[in-house]
Amino acid sequence: MERPLFIPVLLGTARRGRRSEHAARFVFEQAKKRAELETELIDVCQLAMKLDDAGEQMKDPKFSATIQRCDGLIIVTPEYNHGYPGLLKHALDMNLEEYIHKAVGICGVSAGSFGGARAIEALLPVMRELGLVTIFWDVNFGNVQNLFNEQGKLLDQSYVPRLDKFLNELIWMTRVLRYGRENIPEPKAQ
Ligand SMILES: Cc1cc2nc3c(=O)[nH]c(=O)nc-3n(C[C@H](O)[C@H](O)[C@H](O)COP(=O)(O)O)c2cc1C
Repeated sequence: MERPLFIPVLLGTARRGRRSEHAARFVFEQAKKRAELETELIDVCQLAMKLDDAGEQMKDPKFSATIQRCDGLIIVTPEYNHGYPGLLKHALDMNLEEYIHKAVGICGVSAGSFGGARAIEALLPVMRELGLVTIFWDVNFGNVQNLFNEQGKLLDQSYVPRLDKFLNELIWMTRVLRYGRENIPEPKAQ
């Protein structure tokens, strides 16, 4: 039996009243249903982060250990002024080697109809620099105020198969990259 793939879900905003939390919890609950997955919800506002420093020198040991152990990552990000939240970038920057050759899938959340597409596009070069490998499928929670009720219940069931397709792709890429990390020598730095 293959050991489960560990793919945590990172919720990328600390905004009070954030609707992205509904999306992140939905993604987390669906991921938990997959027998081949182990997951956990990482809330960016629970991370020990300084605001007078940046980068690896302010590592949160627990967060770093989780990223070190993970095989892949799901980021749930809202769109703020056509970008992603600064706090998400501040959190991501705390680690570096921990991400290398691991798969990442991104879910965007917005009040507008594009479902955070611009925030996702803006995150792609960041993912590349961190050594993460992006999949070519996203989930866009557009008009999120109409997708979940106040208790976080999903009101549009079309998101279940959308997320299934996303998870299928992410699981495949995660499995491939774990096989590569464990079986194929990494290229030596020149
Ligand atoms: C600072 C800020 C900027 C925002 N900019 C955008 C935007 O560019 N496009 C958009 O569709 N919604 C924008 N929104 C609305 C969010 O997409 C909306 O709040 C949505 O629920 C997701 O964010 P949340 O998780 O904070 O709720 C913005 C919200 C904030 C707080």
